[in-house]
Amino acid sequence: MITRVDSVRPMTVEQNTLASDQMPRHVAIIMDGNGRWAQQRGKPRVWGHKNGVESVRRAVSFCRQKGIASLTLFAFSSENWRRPEGEVSTLMELFILVLNNEVKKLNRNDVRLKVVGDTSRFSDKLQAKIQKAEELTKNNTALVLNIAANYGGRWDIAQAARKAAQDSIDNNECVDNISEAAIDKHMCLADQPPLDLLIRTGGDFRISNFLIWQAAYAELYFTDVLWPDFDETAFTEAVGAFVERERRFGFTGEQIKNQTVTSPCPIIEQE
Ligand code: IPE
Ligand code: IPE
Ligand code: MG
Repeated sequence: MITRVDSVRPMTVEQNTLASDQMPRHVAIIMDGNGRWAQQRGKPRVWGHKNGVESVRRAVSFCRQKGIASLTLFAFSSENWRRPEGEVSTLMELFILVLNNEVKKLNRNDVRLKVVGDTSRFSDKLQAKIQKAEELTKNNTALVLNIAANYGGRWDIAQAARKAAQDSIDNNECVDNISEAAIDKHMCLADQPPLDLLIRTGGDFRISNFLIWQAAYAELYFTDVLWPDFDETAFTEAVGAFVERERRFGFTGEQIKNQTVTSPCPIIEQE
C-alpha cells in the first residue's frame, strides 16, 4: 500500500479520481483562431471575435448539460494589449455588449459569472458592469463561468505570492514557511475544482501564459478547429479524449490500475 505523496490531499473513495467514464469537473479553453477564421472569409479580424460569442454560448450550454462544475474561458490575455488599438477597443466594446445581453440569461440558467484577471486596467464602465454581473449571479450553483480577462498566469502567481507573503508578515511567521498551499489559496480559481482539462483551439501548441499554475496536472487537448467553429461535436471530442486518458500524477500505471494509491488527485494539501 502506498501512502499519499506530498502535495496530494487524501480523498474519500467517493471523491476519488475521475474514472474513465467520468466527466471533467473543471474545463478551461484558450479560445484561439478568431482572427484567422475571419481572414479566411475575407473579413476583418474583429468579425471573428463577434462570431466567437456564439461559440461561448454553445460551450456554456454544453457544460450546463453535462454537469461540468466550472468553465474557464480565456477571453483577453495580459499580452493582448499589444494588438492594434482598434482591435483592442472592439474587444472591450464586445465585452460590454456581451455583459449587457447575456447576464440575465446566465442568471436564469443558474450560472455564476466570475471575471478573473487584473480588471483594474479596464474602463470604469466595464469594471462597473463586471461587478454588477458578478453580484447578480453570485449565488448561482449550476455552473461557474470564469472569464479570464487581462489575465496572465504569471500575474496570478505573483499576486498570490504577494498575498501569501503578507499573510506571513501579519502572522509574524518566517517566509521560509510559505508553502505551496499558502500560495495556492490565493490563486484565482482556488475556490473551484482543480483544472482537469485544458483545451486550445486554433491549432497552436502553447499555453500563452494562461493557467500555468493550475495546469500542473491538467490534461491538455489541442485542436485545429478555429474558435468560431468550436461546437458541441468538437467539445464532445475533447471530452471524449479526456475520458480515455490515464491520469497518473506521478504514480505508475500499475499503481493507478491496482488502486494502491490513496488518491492521485493533485490537490495541494491545505493547511
Ligand atoms: C483569440 O483569437 C481571441 C483573442 C485573443 C482575443 P485570435 O484573435 O488570437 O485569433 P488568431 O489566433 O489571430 O486567428
Ligand atoms: C491567447 O491567444 C489568448 C486568448 C485566447 C485570449 P493569443 O492569440 O493571444 O496567443 P498567442 O499570441 O498566439 O500565443
Ligand atoms: Mg491567436
